[in-house]
Parts: sequence; structure tokens; C-alpha cells
Amino acid sequence: MSVTLIVGAQWGDEGKGKIVDLLSQGASMVARYQGGANAGHTIVFDGKQYILHLIPSGILNPGVKCIIGNGVVIDPVALIDEIKMIEEHGIDVKGRLFISHKAHLIMPYHKLLDQARESAQGGEAIGTTGRGIGPAYIDKARRVGIRIVDLLDRPNFEAKLRVNLNEKNEVLKKIYDFEQLDVDLIVETYLDFDKMIDPYVKDTTLLINKAIKDNEKVIVEGAQGALLDIDHGTYPFVTSSNPTSGGACTGLGIAPNTITNIVGIVKAYCTRVGNGPFPTELHDSVGDKLRRCGAEFGATTGRPRRCGWLDLVALRYSVMINGIKDIALTKLDILDSFAEIKVCTEYEVGGKKLKSFPADSNTLENITPVYKTLKGWNQSMAKKKSFDQLPPEAMEYIRFIEGFTGAEVKIVSLSPDRKDTIMKG
Ligand code: IMO
Ligand code: MG
Repeated sequence: MSVTLIVGAQWGDEGKGKIVDLLSQGASMVARYQGGANAGHTIVFDGKQYILHLIPSGILNPGVKCIIGNGVVIDPVALIDEIKMIEEHGIDVKGRLFISHKAHLIMPYHKLLDQARESAQGGEAIGTTGRGIGPAYIDKARRVGIRIVDLLDRPNFEAKLRVNLNEKNEVLKKIYDFEQLDVDLIVETYLDFDKMIDPYVKDTTLLINKAIKDNEKVIVEGAQGALLDIDHGTYPFVTSSNPTSGGACTGLGIAPNTITNIVGIVKAYCTRVGNGPFPTELHDSVGDKLRRCGAEFGATTGRPRRCGWLDLVALRYSVMINGIKDIALTKLDILDSFAEIKVCTEYEVGGKKLKSFPADSNTLENITPVYKTLKGWNQSMAKKKSFDQLPPEAMEYIRFIEGFTGAEVKIVSLSPDRKDTIMKG
């Protein structure tokens, strides 16, 4: 039996898509457990680029079954678009994609409320993707959410929608001065959607547990990253779900003791989109160079990403809360032309060293990072095919990360393309 859980170890955009795609070659199933169309997972092969938001990154490997688990919040519009996009590339989705009947739906009012609340907050905004993620998880926790299973029964769906709209229309009108939403229009739109997704809806909890019992190779895929986790991230500047490894169990209905390996995806430096604390952020030409060399612009919103050096204090915390044993280190090639490379090894606030990763955003905002400077390798790594071909300075960088975090770097990624990847053993 092998269940490999793949998590983002930083603030998202670590390159999960590429690594999930790669590791799912030879797997029988890939299952996504949280988030929604806020994610943007980029996969490149044979000269083509695919950006996936909702569908697991295993879908491009024919024969691999893909699950969208109960913990995911599903935007029908994004889902249908994505299915179409994949089919247009000649990849069959029918019979391979399975959607949990327990998954919650993103409704039109979730997107409107997300955007309205963000713009009302001005400078205090979280900088969400505007995809309705927060409001959908709020409704789930309030127990008024609408799930895929509700679409099966029209009167029940209509009744639930009416209860929601009675309240949401009031809020939209009175607080945000928005147009009222029409129940009948939403009912018709979502029932049409139900017809389109009907072939994909299944009890995915049963499916994945059967695959595990049958000793199949299963990959479990997270979206976002540990520092965006609603419990363990830089709250309140987080997403509204649990990208950390614990979320995989609740988001799919699998037991913790079924997971055999946890791989953390770590970018060789740090980025963040949206607002919130980022201790190693660089506001200078080095930060600009990282953004330029790394093409750091959001795959979902196109926003420029904030860039900075690798934060090992945050990474060690992430390794701990996720249980990461193996690291896939991505975008190492982006550091090819840096004469010096810094890593943050300590946090100081008001001249005092912090002993652990702080919980309050005020402390996080006031951190002075303490850096160790490592020598750059100053050469292109484009043609490197194995660990022993890597320049000694790059190996030193890798060993420093391993020594500091206690996890082992098993995979190094040297371009967005599938083929530019080095794997240990
Ligand atoms: P992938 O899976 C990077 C960020 C948003 C914002 C915060 C909350 O591609 O790594 P939300 O729309 O979730 O309510 O926004 O989380 N965010 C991401 N940042 N990568 C992502 O996904 C993200 N998904 C959400 O920018 O700061
Ligand atoms: Mg992204």
C-alpha cells in the first residue's frame, strides 16, 4: 500500500502541480482534499502548458483516476471550463474524474460577498483570489452550505437556496448596495450544471478507501500551503481551509494511519500573493530579480508575487506541523545567477530571538530576519540530470536546508517541464 501526500510547505505556488503530475505517473489515483478554484497548478510537458484550478494534477496522465474530495469547495463554472479545456487537448476525463457528493458548492453570492468584503476592507483586505472560497467555507461551518448531493432533490435544493438568499440578498443590498440575486435563475443554472457533472459524482470516500485497501498507489494532493492554513498559518492572512497534512484525512475521509509518506513542496526561495506577514520579503533589486527570473506572477489572478529569500524558520515549522519527511525543492535554477544566496535562520523581534513560529500577525509583521549567507553556484543547471552533477555550492544549499529542517531533499526541479527533474534513488 502506498499513499503519498503532497503538501505545499510555504505560502502556495511552490510548484505542486508539476510534482503531483510527475509522481502520479504510475499511480492509480490522485485525490485533491481542500481549497477550490483559488489554486493555480501549472504543468508543462511536450511544449504545452496546462493550468488547473480544481481538477487534480494527475489528470494529464491517462489511466490515472482523479478525485475531487469532500473538503474541496466547487465552483461549477470553473469546473466545467476546466473539463472542457482538458478535453480540447484530447485528454479523456469521463470515467476518470470523480467528484464527492459531499463537496460544497460555490454559489454566485459567495463570489460576490468575497469581492465585496475585500473591497470594503481597503488597506486591511486579505488580498483573496475573489473566488468565493471564504464565504463558501463560512456557510459550510454555519451548516447552511449547499452540497453536490443537494442538487439531486430539486425541492430541497430550492428550499435551502431560498433560506440562503433571504439573508444574503439583505446583506448584499443593505451593506454593499448590490443587485438582488434571483432564486429561480440560480436554481435553473445549477440544475443544468448538475446534469453536466452527473456522470462524475460518486461516493469518493468509498472509492479512495477501496483503492487503499487494494494496495493501489494513491497520491493525495493539497492546494495552497502550510502558511496559508486557517489554523496554523499567518492568521488572519490565510485561506479558509486546512492545506496542512491533517486536512487530507478530513477532506477525503481517509484515516491518518493510511498515509505512508508526506512530501513537502518547497520553492528554493519564498513568494507570497495577497497581503499578510512575510518576514524575508525583499523590496529591493534582489526581490525584483527573483520575480523576473522566476516569472512570479499568479497563475489564478495574474498578480505579481512578493518575493524573498528562503525562510528556514518558517520551513522548519512547516516540516513539523505537516510531518514532512521528503522535500521536493523547486525552482532551484532560478538562483543560478545569484553570487550570494541568503537563508533566514532566526527571527528577532525588538532585539530578542524568538523561540518558535509566532501566532499573532503583529509579531510576525515586526520580525527582523537573521540571515546566513551561502555562496552561489553562478552557472546554469539546465543540463543537470543527477544529484552528483549539481555544483558543490548547490549541494551545500541543499544540505543546509536538510540539516536545518530534518527533512531530506529527494527531488530537485530545474524548470517547469516534467523532464527537468532530478530524483534521488
Ligand atoms: P496554489 O494551490 C498562493 C492566497 C490568496 C490570499 C489568501 C486567501 O496555487 O498554491 P482565498 O482566495 O483563498 O480566500 O485567499 O490565500 N491564496 C494563494 N496563494 N497560491 C494559492 O494556491 C493560493 N490560494 C489562495 O492570495 O492571500
Ligand atoms: Mg497558485
